[in-house]
Amino acid sequence: MAKRLKPFLAGGTFNRAGWHALAHLPTAGGAPFWADLQILRQPLAFTRAVQTSLGPMARTVIGGQPQVLMLSATALEAVLLDRDRVFSAKGGWDSLMGALFPRGLLLRDGDEHRHHRRLLLPSMKREALQAYVQRMVAPIQYTVTQWLQAGQLPGLGLPTMRHLALSRAADLLLALHDTAEVRQAEHDFGELVEASTALLRLPLIGRRWTRGLQARARLVAQLASLTQARRAQPGPDLLSQLVLARDEDGHQLQDDEIVDHLVFLMMAAHDTTASALTSSLTLLAQHPPWQQRLRDELAAEDPAQDLMSRLASRRQMGWVIREVLRLNPPVAFLQRQTLSEVEVDGVRLPRGALLTLVPLHVQRDARWWPQPDDFHPERFGDSNLPHAYAWTPFGGGAHLCLGLHLAEAQMRLVLGELLARAELHLPTGLLPQWRHAPITHPVQRQPLLLKPLG
Ligand code: HEM
Repeated sequence: MAKRLKPFLAGGTFNRAGWHALAHLPTAGGAPFWADLQILRQPLAFTRAVQTSLGPMARTVIGGQPQVLMLSATALEAVLLDRDRVFSAKGGWDSLMGALFPRGLLLRDGDEHRHHRRLLLPSMKREALQAYVQRMVAPIQYTVTQWLQAGQLPGLGLPTMRHLALSRAADLLLALHDTAEVRQAEHDFGELVEASTALLRLPLIGRRWTRGLQARARLVAQLASLTQARRAQPGPDLLSQLVLARDEDGHQLQDDEIVDHLVFLMMAAHDTTASALTSSLTLLAQHPPWQQRLRDELAAEDPAQDLMSRLASRRQMGWVIREVLRLNPPVAFLQRQTLSEVEVDGVRLPRGALLTLVPLHVQRDARWWPQPDDFHPERFGDSNLPHAYAWTPFGGGAHLCLGLHLAEAQMRLVLGELLARAELHLPTGLLPQWRHAPITHPVQRQPLLLKPLG
């Protein structure tokens, strides 16, 4: 490849010194893009082969750069908890997301991250959450009616779940209702997420990358004008709470900071939830007895109870959601970079090392989870986890997902509404397969079938 093209590849010029600094680790394939292809096509087969032949930590090349592949729960714990503040989320995610989601919460570290997280947290507190969830009920009921009329959802439900999750996020975060605007935003976020996996980052040749940058520019313009409108007149949305947010010294977020947070929040909120819902519907379609168990649980609910209490009382549904997120975590890989030399699991890592942590692997590791590839929600009946970091679909530590309660409430609402009204089926003989990058999604395009209940 011509030398002048190299800086435009994902990750920039290959860091040779960084590769040599990891020479004390076993090597899991050093050829450019080999590991990327394994991760795209068969990540579990790849990480299991690495674990078996090389152990839980190895060097490889991902995104055009040397990376340390970390496959143990103890490494997840050390890196996510980050007691000595030596692991950077910004450094880890920068090459994948930096240009597309700059200054989003996950792209900030240390005191600056803490400061911004504190400003965002009130918008996710219990009362706010209750109001968001209440606002979702009627649109979800209406949407499920439309699904039942259609009788099937294409692409195993993924496009439909994306549309649902994005339209709900657009309502909760931005009070955006205009169908054309929601559709445009959906299209633009799709382009942004796609672009984050582009290996070629050169204008004209790297089409996917260019489209992502153009989509970001359109979204920024749309969100900037909405932010100004909410400054003039606050509404019921999360954006209005960000406009009003003050830190302990009375400082408030600037318009461009709010826009950066919104672009990231919209992406973080909708694609992950859509992925989790798609996996839930597909796995439930594969396991009809679990559909019935959840239906029985719903039928036993006390309708006089308030909505949040009813959602919380769905105990078996909680197990199902945890099992779905264990088997198919929407974010299968987490990225970090070391800020100084550090030891993890007894292995020395140099300053500046890029780390790829793999919840997907740990969550299917037989040492923590008997029959790790089977759908067995009862394993969550016992509330103790086998290891505190053997189940991390929402990450952990300072960057723990800000929207986990909202995501779970939304999933409980959708699953409850759908299962109470329909049976879920897959086309005869279909065995769903999954890809896990950039976000977990089904490979097949066949429909998920809905049979309305009497
Ligand atoms: C099932 C749905 C979801 C899953 C599986 C998920 C997963 C994750 C994960 C794994 C992280 C940590 C990434 C890391 O440490 O590198 C994260 C962070 C984050 N998530 Fe979620 N997420 C979901 C839904 C949501 C929703 C609905 C929102 C917002 C309303 C949201 C907002 C965020 C934010 C802001 C962060 C960054 C937190 C920080 O850096 O302090 N997520 N999410």
